Amino acid sequence: MTLTDEQVYAERLQTLSEGSVHISFDPYKDIDWDNPDWAVDPTDTRWILPKVDPLGSHAWYLSQPVEKQIAIGMWRQANVARVGLHFEQLLIRAFMQYMVRLENNDPAFRYITHEAAEECNHTLMFQEMVNRIGADVPGMDPISRKLTLAIWPAVSFFPELFFVMILGGEEPIDHLQKEILRGGDTIHPMLTRIMQIHVAEEARHISFAHEYLKLNVPKANFAKKAALSVATPIVMRLMAEMLAAPPAQFRREFDIPDSVIEELYWNSNQGKDTLRRIFADVRALSENIGLMNPVGRLAWRLCGIDGRASRYRGEPGRMLAKRDAFTELPRTA
Ligand SMILES: [Fe+2]
Ligand SMILES: [Fe+2]
Repeated sequence: MTLTDEQVYAERLQTLSEGSVHISFDPYKDIDWDNPDWAVDPTDTRWILPKVDPLGSHAWYLSQPVEKQIAIGMWRQANVARVGLHFEQLLIRAFMQYMVRLENNDPAFRYITHEAAEECNHTLMFQEMVNRIGADVPGMDPISRKLTLAIWPAVSFFPELFFVMILGGEEPIDHLQKEILRGGDTIHPMLTRIMQIHVAEEARHISFAHEYLKLNVPKANFAKKAALSVATPIVMRLMAEMLAAPPAQFRREFDIPDSVIEELYWNSNQGKDTLRRIFADVRALSENIGLMNPVGRLAWRLCGIDGRASRYRGEPGRMLAKRDAFTELPRTA
């Protein structure tokens, strides 16, 4: 007996839900916050930015005194965590709004509730790290905060776009964290642990968004598909900038020349390459669900994030496949 698309979707969500029950992490039981080796110390060189962070490999950054490189690294890691938690808070609110309309027996209810619970835990672990680092970082800048309001009409009237926005937030964070873990640079163990947990749980979240879009986009009407084929690369580009570009306060605090920031995000070859690599999985998904029409393809190119699609989800970028640090995920409790 062949299963309908809806049955396949329900089975996959059941598997994801069971994954959430059996492999989950508690931010206070599974993170060894008080490990003496994890004490936050402004002379600890493990806070120096890894090479895969565009700023971490920039000549300006490398020419700064070590203490300043450490201070910049701590501030940046704290701010990335705070931007991440702002995004997750928005996602949790939007998911609750989305679920109000779900009917009894919709398999998405159970899985989304598991995912929202995991996101709550992520906000706890991110805020705990920010507090321990001690940098008073702002997180998402005010313009980005306003742009995120676009998510509300999407939740109610265009849920396929809402799920594209979810991917726009999750794919860049996940990709950059995997690149740091795979890159092999020495980084602070608190950061390593948090990224390992985050990458492990985000894999399920990203799978869910892919499953939702695979089921629903092919069934959408022509106008919705046409809008999505153009909106997808625009959302990816805008959200990657929101999540990765450092806020004005960061530039001021560390006297970072504007030319350096402009070059990094994303005018240098390395920056452009990173941006393209981040979305290889979304390009593959777009092809898979019929969104790569000629206009959509042009939109990907104009947004500067075109390129080949990944052959399988999570395929590492060529230059960074040295080490899969996140495949080992020891529990501390
Ligand atoms: Fe998360
Ligand atoms: Fe997530």
